[in-house]
Amino acid sequence: MGANIALDFAGHGFTVKLADVNAAQLEIARTTIETNAQLLTQHGLLDHETSRVSDIVFTADLPQVAAGASVVIEAVSENLAIKQKVFTELDRQCPPDVILASNTSTFMPSKLSAGLTHPERLLVLHYWNPAHLVPLVEVVPHAGTLPTVVERSRILLEACQKRPVVLKQEVVGFIGNRLAFAIQREAMDLVAQGIATPEDIDTVVKTGFGRRMPVSGVFGTADLGGLDVYQAVCQSLFPNLCDQKEVPAALAERVAANQLGVKTGEGWNRYDAASADALRVAVAEELIRQAKLDQAKS
Ligand SMILES: NC(=O)c1ccc[n+]([C@@H]2O[C@H](COP(=O)([O-])OP(=O)(O)OC[C@H]3O[C@@H](n4cnc5c(N)ncnc54)[C@H](O)[C@@H]3O)[C@@H](O)[C@H]2O)c1
Repeated sequence: MGANIALDFAGHGFTVKLADVNAAQLEIARTTIETNAQLLTQHGLLDHETSRVSDIVFTADLPQVAAGASVVIEAVSENLAIKQKVFTELDRQCPPDVILASNTSTFMPSKLSAGLTHPERLLVLHYWNPAHLVPLVEVVPHAGTLPTVVERSRILLEACQKRPVVLKQEVVGFIGNRLAFAIQREAMDLVAQGIATPEDIDTVVKTGFGRRMPVSGVFGTADLGGLDVYQAVCQSLFPNLCDQKEVPAALAERVAANQLGVKTGEGWNRYDAASADALRVAVAEELIRQAKLDQAKS
């Protein structure tokens, strides 16, 4: 995530320094940035006049990154203690007007900012993977985050052609993961009940309601359908939807059996090297196609 966030800023003309404690990870980040920058260039999505991608500084020295920065985005491992340690260090090193942001998927900004001398400059900027191609960034302030910090973050993201959505208050899962996992829960329940296979469910999403979602979203789709119809469906459907609180057994069993998905060759589906690659390429190509459409519209 850190590498592609760095690529996105540098690609839009910002000076970027990227820090990691692990030298091998820094090398992976360098390769990732080079490869993805080439792909963006091939598709006319990187402006070489303004790009500063080749100037990105790679370092193991966090103080070097902090020095002179106006914004620091943390994308270290999803571990609260590690993140709090990094923010304590940044809070000590960076003047109070420097924005401290976290790309965390799960931790509340109030938790990450607790104990800092200047908690008012911290917020979550939640990018989606791959960060250089997905426009959405969820902006999540805590109750004490300064409005100017939120506004400066929004302006900065828009300068990178991102689509920031500012949450009115912090909530677990932010918006995107709450919606995505509501679908995951219902889908896993339908499979557990023997009503459909994972393949059937993916077909329903890909060829059915998923087709119009990129255009009409959730509420636009309801408005097109008619709210009277939606009310009737809610009445009959909501009492029947899955509201399970625990991790579904089939998911836990797969994880215990090291069936982790593409990375181990089996998850809900089976993969060999070719089919795993084909899926990754298909997703990347679709994201690039959409990025080109966005560029053409802007
Ligand atoms: N992977 C995703 O799809 C995704 C999407 C959105 C948000 N996120 C969030 O982004 C963050 C990073 O996720 P990732 O998938 O890139 O993880 P990752 O494990 O690939 O990368 C984390 C990096 O942090 C480095 N690191 C660990 N401790 C450090 C420290 N003290 N100082 C500097 N670097 C340190 C590690 O060496 C590693 O390179 C997490 O908070 C994750 O929840 C991930």
